[in-house]
Amino acid sequence: MTDRELMDIARRAAENAYAPYSRFKVGAALETETNKVYTGCNVENAALGDTICAERTAACKAVSEGDTKFKRIAIWGEGDDYCMPCGSCRQFLLEFSDDMEVLCAKAGGRYVSYKLSQLIPHPFKF
Ligand code: THU
Repeated sequence: MTDRELMDIARRAAENAYAPYSRFKVGAALETETNKVYTGCNVENAALGDTICAERTAACKAVSEGDTKFKRIAIWGEGDDYCMPCGSCRQFLLEFSDDMEVLCAKAGGRYVSYKLSQLIPHPFKF
């Protein structure tokens, strides 16, 4: 699957975003080493800190299906800036990846590509 195809899946996943507070819809498409794709969207809550990001929704779907080796993730958001994963999501993804690819889109569909190690260079490990 091409990067663009994975990003298109993330774009469609954003349609299910539950974001009545921020109005900022995010979609994620996570590809695992088994070549499966798990989608996610942000799920907000009236207790704002309980909100779950799109990336972690997708990650938990994969792990709960026993798919724990992550290869690539596409993140779709329609802001002026590229929709980068937040710090918590970077740490969370790292748990299941040696050095996955992270594609981040912005309004209009352009995207940038990073290795996770570029986004979280000195991670906490236990
Ligand atoms: N959000 C994500 O889904 N992923 C991120 O990595 C950053 C932020 C969501 C959370 C919240 O619903 C909205 O974007 C605004 O912060």
